[in-house]
Amino acid sequence: MEFGNKIIDESVQGSAIAKEGNIEGKKLFLESYGCQMNFADSEVVASILINKGFTTTQNFLEADIIFVNTCAIRENAESKIRQRLQDYKKVKKKNPKALIGVLGCMAERLKSELLEQEKLVDIVVGPDAYRDLPNLIEIAEGGQKAVNVILSKEETYADISPVRLDHNGVSAFISIMRGCDNMCSFCVVPFTRGRERSRDPESIIKEAKEAFDAGYREVTLLGQNVDSFIWSGGGLKKDILTDEQKANAINFAQLLEMVAKINPDLRVRFSTSHPKDMCDDVLHTMAKYENICKYIHLPVQSGCSEVLEKMNRGYSREWYLDRVAAIRRIMPDAAISSDIITGFCGESEEQHQQTLSLMEEVQYEFAYMFAYSERPKTLAERKFTDDVSAEIKQKRLAEIVNMQRKHSEIRTKQNVGKIHKVLIESISKKSKDMFSGRNSQNITVVFPKEKYKKGDYVNVFASSCTSSTLIGEVV
Ligand code: SAH
Ligand code: SF4
Ligand code: F3S
Repeated sequence: MEFGNKIIDESVQGSAIAKEGNIEGKKLFLESYGCQMNFADSEVVASILINKGFTTTQNFLEADIIFVNTCAIRENAESKIRQRLQDYKKVKKKNPKALIGVLGCMAERLKSELLEQEKLVDIVVGPDAYRDLPNLIEIAEGGQKAVNVILSKEETYADISPVRLDHNGVSAFISIMRGCDNMCSFCVVPFTRGRERSRDPESIIKEAKEAFDAGYREVTLLGQNVDSFIWSGGGLKKDILTDEQKANAINFAQLLEMVAKINPDLRVRFSTSHPKDMCDDVLHTMAKYENICKYIHLPVQSGCSEVLEKMNRGYSREWYLDRVAAIRRIMPDAAISSDIITGFCGESEEQHQQTLSLMEEVQYEFAYMFAYSERPKTLAERKFTDDVSAEIKQKRLAEIVNMQRKHSEIRTKQNVGKIHKVLIESISKKSKDMFSGRNSQNITVVFPKEKYKKGDYVNVFASSCTSSTLIGEVV
């Protein structure tokens, strides 16, 4: 996933994350699409199957079993996966016993219907049923179709140590909660991921410590709405907690502090913050610890209060701008990014202009921008008409993309002439003699390698930039 001023549809930027294992056994090819949570889940899947003796392969034609971890957020995310399933067909020509399994959000949305639509699929597994995979594989090996799409109120995979796939050895993702209770009217996630539940902080800290001990220097805490993290002993207790119990529970600000204290050399990031729940406590904790990165992904979706109301987002334009003001007041150097949807049901030109004016006001560092895509069963599909034409959605999308490009450039330029603390993550894509890393604000910085190595922190003076990358030298 890249950041910057392009339209980035993370849900359709699937990438093979299979890696070569060395345990004897059946060969697994595992591919992931969608958000970071899906990539983190694939590491749980890999852990479960490698423990059962599977090895992994990067070539799906060699695989005994292909699993694709899918996304259902927009229609084009699903069509991309359907196309990919056509490629996988080839494996069955080579090896008639090979199995194809669909995991994740599209599996959960379509359930056994998927088996009727895609005849070559043998196994369908929803995001809360991965512990059942060995059993489902056995059923499919016996010649039957196997499905488990049961959503759980408890499952957090807390005790499973993920096998880090596609990693740079420096940054790791850690899921801190699952599901979502928000019911934004456009969104399929509550239907594919089930009820919101937080994970035991002890297991989160243990996973972060293990990552640090294995050489990782950055963890990103993941949840659909991290600000509503609350731990008081598991399950959906949040619903029945008294105010006193809530006061004694561990909230997100406290969890963040616990992770930050593991080691000053472990950077902490998190995603996603929800504007309705993001409170000053979290901002003060961020300001207090140098190793908590000064970057907040705070998706606005629309700059118009009426549209936000129809989206069931739980905040107004004014509330959102107040949260932005709080970030700027408490952490003047913080970067803010956003998600924006154009052409939601009934969006007028005037309402679209309000999104543009909000963007002018905030001047985001980055934004992910999307044309509205109606999703079955959502509140919007049931209650409203998807009445903005594809043409107008695209025209408005182009307008916000152009504006964001301008803002990203301004923001990147503001960082030229300054020194940035950078965590070295990888060799630069542009030159093998350069390293690439990010500063605290999540801006990519490239510089000559010299004597340094991956996982080192260096201070880089930024002397120039492209539209979204800083270029400089270690000082
Ligand atoms: N939990 C996060 C969002 C996760 S989905 C949050 O609330 O901010 C990532 C992004 O996909 C959303 O922020 C939204 O901008 C976009 N998205 C979700 N459903 C969509 C739909 N039906 N059409 C277009 N974009 C959508
Ligand atoms: Fe979807 Fe809203 Fe939940 Fe985000 S907060 S996952 S947009 S329902
Ligand atoms: Fe997609 Fe599911 Fe994530 S729908 S965005 S993979 S939670």
